[in-house]
Amino acid sequence: MRIESPRYTERLGSVRINDVQQVLELDSGRAKELLPHENIAVQKIEEDVLKDFEEKMAIIIPTKDEKLKLFEGVISGVPHECLIIVVSNSQTKKIDRFRMERDTLSQYCHFTRREAMIIHQKDPALAQALAGAGYTDILGEDGLVRDGKAEGMMAATFMAMLAKKEYVGFVDADNYFPGAVWEYVRCFASGLSMAKSPYAMVRILWRYKPKVSAGMYFRKWGRVSEITNKCMNSLISSKTGFETGIIKTGNAGEHAMSLRLAEILPCASSYAVEPQELVAVFEGFGGVLPMAHPTAAKDGVEIFQIETRNPHLHEEKGGQHLEGMLLPGLGAIYHSPLCEAETKQMILGELRQQGMIKPRERPPKPHINAPLRNIDLKKFSEAMEESLASYSALEEQ
Ligand code: GDD
Ligand code: MG
Repeated sequence: MRIESPRYTERLGSVRINDVQQVLELDSGRAKELLPHENIAVQKIEEDVLKDFEEKMAIIIPTKDEKLKLFEGVISGVPHECLIIVVSNSQTKKIDRFRMERDTLSQYCHFTRREAMIIHQKDPALAQALAGAGYTDILGEDGLVRDGKAEGMMAATFMAMLAKKEYVGFVDADNYFPGAVWEYVRCFASGLSMAKSPYAMVRILWRYKPKVSAGMYFRKWGRVSEITNKCMNSLISSKTGFETGIIKTGNAGEHAMSLRLAEILPCASSYAVEPQELVAVFEGFGGVLPMAHPTAAKDGVEIFQIETRNPHLHEEKGGQHLEGMLLPGLGAIYHSPLCEAETKQMILGELRQQGMIKPRERPPKPHINAPLRNIDLKKFSEAMEESLASYSALEEQ
């Protein structure tokens, strides 16, 4: 893969935020000696390097009652070397959609000779194992893991820790293009291979997110991302004293991280999850508040934003979505101890303009879960041993 080198980097304490890097070639050919000028503006990431990173990566696919055809397409786009971990919150009652997902994955693994894991978010064994290992933050009043993509992502990240992976990448199950999924994962691997710190994150920016109205329109920015990015940039500008537009992936659902970083970040529930990751990095390592982790502060936290070639086309769910996504994301920024008056005013202004809050109202504070490293992994592993065998034995069926 050939990709632009990071050309501009904004620094905030120990955090390095790289400006968007574009993909030049999805496939950059065989390994050859590079011409001397090649390494300056553009980086060629060899297939072997991509495979090395993919091998150490779990791709987590959260799913809830998605069309099986989409799910099937998404798993087919995940490069062979990655471990697929599906975390499902699909219905099991009237129609057992989880069973269908499990069967589809099992058949796929059988014919492609690869391994995968699938868990149901509401599996009592999972909740029990979490409780036994001292991590109860994502459990609800009924003692089971709460609903939500964020909770699913966290449960699956624990599974990646058990599988001793070094990286986790997140890909939604409702993507129409398997080729786009394939590209996301290659971008994850490329970005992580460029990182100089073991605490690194890659966030995907779609080149286009087409909308179908009268014909197809290749739109670049969604309303939610535009507003979230603007407020996030205002937060950074207030700390550096220089106006910036560096953040272009505030809401990126498709993203990857080293597990070393994933383990130390407090995670938000709901659609605050992706903006909160950045907020947590700025809070923990931005140099304004006390550093959250000495080694990460020393090594630095690196953020890459990579723009894909494939457009992003996913299932249109419509309805309350704008509100459902914007409010929690802006809530994460608003309630950060880093957020000063000007950014707060900007957030309130945006939310009032969208009619999402009344004049005296404030955005709700998102639920923040403790960092994943608070789990007793040994106890979790012992408790999950039996169930785990059945989750990961798909390949042999
Ligand atoms: N395990 C699990 N549990 N998965 C869930 C749940 C849940 O409770 N709820 C939703 N999902 C799955 C969906 O099936 C889908 O695969 C993925 O999570 C994302 O959900 P969508 O409902 O499709 O979200 P979206 O398309 O509106 O938003 C996506 O893009 C945003 C950025 O534009 C998400 O990835 C957001 O998190 C992201 O901010
Ligand atoms: Mg979607």
